[in-house]
Amino acid sequence: MTHPRTSRPHLRTVSITGVGSCVPERILSNADLERMVETTDEWITSRTGIRERRIAADDQATSDLATEAARRALADAGVRAEDVDLIIVATITPDMPFPSTACLVQHRLGATRAAAFDIEAACSGFVYALDIASHFVASHTYNTVLVIGAEKMSSVVDWTDRNTCVLFGDGAGAAVLQNRPSAHGLLTTCLGSDGGKASLLELPAGGSACPATAETVAARRHFLRMDGKETFKNAVNAMVTAATQALERCGIGIERIRCIIPHQANQRILAAVAERLGAREDQVFSNVERYGNTSAASVGIALDEAVKSGRIQRGDLVLLVVFGAGLTWGAAVIEW
Ligand code: ACO
Repeated sequence: MTHPRTSRPHLRTVSITGVGSCVPERILSNADLERMVETTDEWITSRTGIRERRIAADDQATSDLATEAARRALADAGVRAEDVDLIIVATITPDMPFPSTACLVQHRLGATRAAAFDIEAACSGFVYALDIASHFVASHTYNTVLVIGAEKMSSVVDWTDRNTCVLFGDGAGAAVLQNRPSAHGLLTTCLGSDGGKASLLELPAGGSACPATAETVAARRHFLRMDGKETFKNAVNAMVTAATQALERCGIGIERIRCIIPHQANQRILAAVAERLGAREDQVFSNVERYGNTSAASVGIALDEAVKSGRIQRGDLVLLVVFGAGLTWGAAVIEW
């Protein structure tokens, strides 16, 4: 196995030293959805594998979920908020267009020394943020970076559209990145995008191209829209490409990966990606049944659950692989 990062002597190893997550208490089951739109538990379960999702309270914003996930990750790493140098929040459902959700989290945590900014790569956001954060640590710019993927997808879902409302949920996942004097750490990250397919999955209004008006609200243009079938095909292809590229860069085969954590969009996407990669079912971590698609939060929540449940042990090789609107995609290989 080669260490693409540490084989360059001026770069430091980047380790994930703590993880944490937070999901809202309220559970919305498929049975609840049967009472809201024309759907069935059988349809949702067989097409997506999702049985329930978490929905934030009306007064709970993305920053609330992000702050709690971050507190848990900092506690897990044994790091004080005052020692954080940088906070990156990946989200497509910020509390507001500006200031950034990362700045709100910085204040709430008391991370007084930290710089803070948001990034937006939809469901790929956590791996994009990990990649950005890792460069700051590897290059000696910062010692401690907090990466958070957080979403209140329920705030942008059209609850009258059965094509999309059954798929999404709310939550946040966080990781602390630091240099540790060991060989263990992030081995590589690969990112990609294709803006030519932006319209497959979008939230059309509310930005500078189509500012909010009474008409845009009436036309329900402030909710996400998706071409499900095309998104599905592109998701599988892009995730397979990203994972293959990342593994090749490290010179390791899929059979050596202890735990694959794919973006939790749909159980059928997870199965198709695993099959195309030649992975066994027991290598793939899935919690999509309980949370649905939490966009940028999904791999962060899954990573936290996989670590805390003992599914990932020190020294294990872990593959994160994501896909989202943009289109965007990415993969990361970590020696835990
Ligand atoms: N309940 C019942 N029927 C439904 C529902 C529902 N909730 N939703 C759609 N249908 C109907 C449609 O109206 C359509 O009916 P029609 O044929 O009469 O027009 C039919 O079911 C479509 O059925 P299928 O072809 O079997 O649906 P498919 O297998 O394509 O599954 C799904 C749909 C689940 C949306 C799938 O395409 C998918 O998962 N796509 C990817 C979605 C995704 O992961 N998006 C997120 C990507 S990442 C990000 O950045 C957010």
